[in-house]
Amino acid sequence: MPELIPVLKREDIEESTASVARQISAAYKGRKLVLVGVLKGAFIFMADLARRLTIPVEIDFVRAASYGSGTTSSGKIEITKEIDIDIEGKDVLVVEDIVDSGLTLTYLVNYLNKFKPATVRVCTLLDKLERRQSKIKVDYACHTIEKGFLVGYGLDYDEAYRELPAIYHLKFQ
Ligand code: IMP
Ligand code: MG
Repeated sequence: MPELIPVLKREDIEESTASVARQISAAYKGRKLVLVGVLKGAFIFMADLARRLTIPVEIDFVRAASYGSGTTSSGKIEITKEIDIDIEGKDVLVVEDIVDSGLTLTYLVNYLNKFKPATVRVCTLLDKLERRQSKIKVDYACHTIEKGFLVGYGLDYDEAYRELPAIYHLKFQ
């Protein structure tokens, strides 16, 4: 059985989410924003972030599949749930759970840009620097993590651990 080592407490996540939500609300003041959550991992972060914003938002989700049951990106990405809202001319904020290689996000931003939004920016709960392979710009990150495979608060390993209220490093023996 892998071991769960605590990395971020519930309160740490609440604090960083509130701070990033303040930055986003200030940056988009007087405008409205389309939040595009990346399923499934971002569903909890999206719900908490959205409730802390003080600007009006529209909510949508996309799903991009890249990971199998392992812990490294296959590099092959496909959209398995498309966007529903018309984002042409709108400000879009992609909401991710974690940016690792950056390949998923690069693919998603290119996909969204095809619908001619006014702007596309990126907000992630966790920015993991260890395996970055793409130059994608992360505009808002709640926490920066050096390395390791993380689970909880939406993040899974083979569909397990998403329901945990805090974030853990999953250590394989
Ligand atoms: P990337 O394409 O390598 O940046 O991978 C991004 C996606 O892989 C994330 O949206 C997650 O769904 C998943 N992922 C990457 N690292 C982790 C991790 O440490 N725990 C859980 N999922 C991860
Ligand atoms: Mg994800």
